[in-house]
Amino acid sequence: MDMYEKVIELARRRGFIWPAFELYGGAAGFYDYGPLGAPLKRGIEDLWRGFFVIREGFCEIECPTIGVEEIFKASGHLSGFSDPLTECKECGEIYRADHLIKHIIEVPDALADEEIYRVIKENDVFCPECGGDLSEIYEFNLMFKTFIGPGGKQPGYLRPETAQGMFVNFPRLLRHYRDRLPFGAVQIGKSYRNEISPRQGVIRLREFSQAEAEIFINPKDKSHPRFGEVADLKMTLYSKEGQERGVTEEMAVGEAVARGIIAHQTLAYYVARTCQFLMEAGLSKERLRFRQHKDDEMAHYAADCWDAEALLDRFGWIEIVGIADRTNYDLKSHMAQSQANLTVYLPLDQPRREDRLVVKPDMKKLGPLFRKEAKAVADALSALPLEELKQDPIVVIVDGKSQKIDPALVSFEMVTEEIRGEEIVPHVIEPSFGIDRILYSVLEHSYREETVEGETRAVLALKNRVVPIQVAVLPLMDRSELLAPAEEIARDLRSLDLRVEYDSSGSIGRRYRRNDEVGTPYSVTVDYETLEEGTVTIRDRDSMSQIRVVRADLADKIQALLAGEMEFLEAGTPLSG
Ligand code: ATP
Ligand code: GLY
Repeated sequence: MDMYEKVIELARRRGFIWPAFELYGGAAGFYDYGPLGAPLKRGIEDLWRGFFVIREGFCEIECPTIGVEEIFKASGHLSGFSDPLTECKECGEIYRADHLIKHIIEVPDALADEEIYRVIKENDVFCPECGGDLSEIYEFNLMFKTFIGPGGKQPGYLRPETAQGMFVNFPRLLRHYRDRLPFGAVQIGKSYRNEISPRQGVIRLREFSQAEAEIFINPKDKSHPRFGEVADLKMTLYSKEGQERGVTEEMAVGEAVARGIIAHQTLAYYVARTCQFLMEAGLSKERLRFRQHKDDEMAHYAADCWDAEALLDRFGWIEIVGIADRTNYDLKSHMAQSQANLTVYLPLDQPRREDRLVVKPDMKKLGPLFRKEAKAVADALSALPLEELKQDPIVVIVDGKSQKIDPALVSFEMVTEEIRGEEIVPHVIEPSFGIDRILYSVLEHSYREETVEGETRAVLALKNRVVPIQVAVLPLMDRSELLAPAEEIARDLRSLDLRVEYDSSGSIGRRYRRNDEVGTPYSVTVDYETLEEGTVTIRDRDSMSQIRVVRADLADKIQALLAGEMEFLEAGTPLSG
């Protein structure tokens, strides 16, 4: 069994994740989160909220998961959100073509369809199922289409990213932030992509959860006021240039910006926060790197983009987060599509004086002369430079036709104006997190097996912040005199909002192991000393050490341990052996 099989087997058996619709044979790309998986996912999302909502002072919104067509026309998803497919000419199996050449080309998604086909041909790549010849490449749009209302007239699309919700709500969000930049808005929710061959568990789902932040900034100032807080953080970077040489570099964020490796402070700040978040969620630092997109790989809207990649036993390096400078691409596209104004007025530090040409076409005379075209003629006149307004006659082009205008029909003058500010379209920095991929990576990076005194135990060394069960309460034996106080302790701990597992079945050793493999950090055992002395034991998952504490102090001690405010062995009297 490789690591993936071990983790997935544990996840299914103990109720973290399992394939959806199993009763009806399942459907590729859909998974359920079970009794332990759902709280683990919630824990990761709440940790994310702490990082990217609360500590950044951003707001969280929630938008429909079905969007109208105009949104995806503007965003480019309707025309460009597709993957390259190839079909086996023998057995008819369909594949994502770029995935078939991953072992030949490190970043195949940068290649055009014809190039992928050429690599397939030149390297004798055949159908992995039957060895048949593969067809030429064709594109497949990944959005799920539906219809809004009866009648099938209004198309709708399941959103392929949560980000568009923040873009289409830009004017309201700007007002919420009292018309000032920078500000951020986030969304945590489901996204949908009709992935071609989702064969990698929760790594490639057709319905998955994203947590995305859109941070709207002044394009002329991409510094970050809190950059100093992260400048010394060291991360493993796999830059564009590093990829050419096949080397990663351990580097402080500050140095990466100073050397121009990461484009600017704001992007680097969120790369650093992403690294901190992933560490706290439970990824292993040695199995995490930040890879910069190559120029030809970058999304059409992006100016610089870094992926957080986790090293997974079976799949190699997998993107779990994308952090991009999306420039003003989305807001500009939505402005063009909707005709709404999505600009921000930015006051200048120093007002400046500017000469401006003011053109006044005489509409009273232009109206009767040009009738329906009068407004277009006036607009064309207003757009002319000074030199052309001085001609006699003045010539304008309207609807491709040249019109001669008597100079007496238009007056103009140069005025000097004081410019106090300007309308700009903000740029957007976007950290985009795939929660399901992060959750799987956390499971795999937390999993270990150890053999102690000839017995092997599996441990999920989850971080306290995200564990689904915070404390297990275990009566030493299934005897009524022990069950009653144990149940009472479980009730008391639950009343403090702790997630408690109560379990009285089987041997105590077996129950410890059951809790170890789902990551329960502390197990409280109620034994005869509880009845005689009023004490209980707490067992630590990672070290398997035990301490005795006074029952009355238990809740405080557990809370302090969970919060990391106390060393385990200092929280009570260590038991020997
Ligand atoms: P890939 O190249 O692996 O398909 P992507 O580049 O399309 O990923 P993005 O569009 O950048 O991914 O999406 C942002 C994040 O959403 C990713 O980092 C990933 O964690 C997550 N994500 C994207 N597609 C899926 C999917 N099909 N299943 C689960 N998570 C996904
Ligand atoms: N919002 C980035 C993506 O999902 O592609």
